Amino acid sequence: MDKKTIKLWNEELEGSSPHNVIDFFLKKFPNKIALSTSLGLEDQALTEIVSSIDKTANIFTLDTGRLFPESYDLIDRTSKKYGITINVFFPDSNKVEEMVNGRGINLFYEDVASRKLCCRVRKLEPLSRAMDGLSGWITGLRKDQSVTRTNMKLVEWDESNNMIKINPLIHWTESDVLDYIDAKGIPVNTLHKKGFASIGCQPCTRAIEPDEDIRAGRWWWEDPETKECGLHKK
Ligand code: ADX
Ligand code: SF4
Repeated sequence: MDKKTIKLWNEELEGSSPHNVIDFFLKKFPNKIALSTSLGLEDQALTEIVSSIDKTANIFTLDTGRLFPESYDLIDRTSKKYGITINVFFPDSNKVEEMVNGRGINLFYEDVASRKLCCRVRKLEPLSRAMDGLSGWITGLRKDQSVTRTNMKLVEWDESNNMIKINPLIHWTESDVLDYIDAKGIPVNTLHKKGFASIGCQPCTRAIEPDEDIRAGRWWWEDPETKECGLHKK
């Protein structure tokens, strides 16, 4: 995809609702666009939108093997509510065995490099299988989520994965997301009520205090600048 087309799409879709943005890409690339859901608030809103357009659209999640029980429960509740299949991708068991037996079961607390290795084995490798044959992926990224996300656009060329990346909620604020979820009665992770804002793997996520940044509970022992798992390059 050339840069000009991406630029044109950004101009054409500027101000469009997330629903219209998703509809545009699902129709333009039939069966070649997938929603990648982490089961977070944004992704739950996107799941509702995608399934309102096409119940057979490709929605996948990466099960790292270290998720909270509440997140598995949400996969089940969401699939049943919308009559959809959320395709689950697991890491390669040989690679996980090699990593944890060589480096320790909780290697991620050692240093940033070990944490990134774990994210690579448990998320990036399965992501590349999930993306096989796709033309683009839909994510729940928002500009105001973190310092690492302020330059992101509605539509981007994703160099690392060689495909289009669509961020329909890029301009939404946290309260836009919450209002939408409320209005549509969308199921959410029960951990949100217990102070968990952004939820990833259990050992790498903690609850936050009311005055903390929404991503403060992710890899809380690291600097804000390193807090990306590699799914989203700056
Ligand atoms: S992360 O990089 O810190 O893990 P975050 O949780 O904010 O990312 O999610 C950003 C977007 O990345 C989500 O909206 C989703 O599209 C994708 N994503 C993150 N984690 C997963 C996952 N486990 N499975 C599928 N997609 C994911
Ligand atoms: Fe591993 Fe933590 Fe990354 Fe999950 S978030 S893949 S447990 S380092």
